[in-house]
Amino acid sequence: MRRVAVLTSGGDAPGMNAAIRSVVRTSVHRNWQVIGVRHGYRGLIDGSFVPLGTRDVGGIVQRGGTMLGTARVPEFSQEATRQQAVRQLAHHGIDALVVIGGNGSQAGAHSLAEMGLRVVGIASTIDNDVVGSDITIGVDTALNIALEAIDRLKITASSHQRAFLVEVMGRNSGYLALMAAIAGGAEAVMLPEADSDPECLAQTLHRAYDIGKAHALVVVAEGARQNAATLARYFAEHQARLGFELRVTTLGHVQRGGAPTAYDRLLATRFGAAAVECLAAERQSVLIGLVRGEVRETPLKEVVTTTKDLDRGLLALATVLAQ
Ligand code: F6P
Repeated sequence: MRRVAVLTSGGDAPGMNAAIRSVVRTSVHRNWQVIGVRHGYRGLIDGSFVPLGTRDVGGIVQRGGTMLGTARVPEFSQEATRQQAVRQLAHHGIDALVVIGGNGSQAGAHSLAEMGLRVVGIASTIDNDVVGSDITIGVDTALNIALEAIDRLKITASSHQRAFLVEVMGRNSGYLALMAAIAGGAEAVMLPEADSDPECLAQTLHRAYDIGKAHALVVVAEGARQNAATLARYFAEHQARLGFELRVTTLGHVQRGGAPTAYDRLLATRFGAAAVECLAAERQSVLIGLVRGEVRETPLKEVVTTTKDLDRGLLALATVLAQ
């Protein structure tokens, strides 16, 4: 019998619970034991473990967040800390680990794999910036939450002929902002991956009014080179010249807290089952992700040594559509 541990790590993402549930139930189906690790790598270091049976993961598929808790643990990059985690796993007779999380979490998973541990990662972050998965768990839900806010803001913006700036999450990745801009019909989008100039933005917004739009909406990624605060300041200083004001709404963590959409529940469920299948087939040191519509395995080494590029074609499309 195998004893498999599962943890969620980094920023939580809607659908993490569905992934935990799937790992637990598909493992139990194989007569394996599953151990949940509380609060990500923090619990791995401290030995904060809890046995998980099929009933323990009942009623969670529809819940956002993670029943196991999560954490950002910067000290996990230190070898000595990881050795402590490996000792905890050995002490509890655990012979494999499933890591549900984004890039930082998969870097931890890769380091543990390099130390000889049997590890499988599951791509989960609202940022959608993990190599090895075209889409990650949580993105669909976060995007839909952003869209609901954008749709509402456009209504009030039109009533007042106002310009609005909506900041969405994404410190290093503009995926969420770009998709929200396209699907929400924004006039402009500002991303960490692209140059941005407040004066160009002002001209774009002006043009929106000139061609008869009743509002102008800009989606800004949290990590854009000109962030929401900088832009708001610039527009406030130049309001008299520009002839309109800019209102700011920061969505922040609201995007992470939603109940997972059907898409995220199903994606997470497929990923969880695939992780267990992978371990059963004696494969390891890989990330489970979706590649061209199919659940695939990508070596963790490749995941942590390459970066996912923004689709420039979609960025160009966003501009064309904003006419
Ligand atoms: O999990 C990804 C993410 O939501 C990023 O979009 C964001 O920049 C970051 O986490 C925020 O992290 P924290 O919740 O630790 O403030």
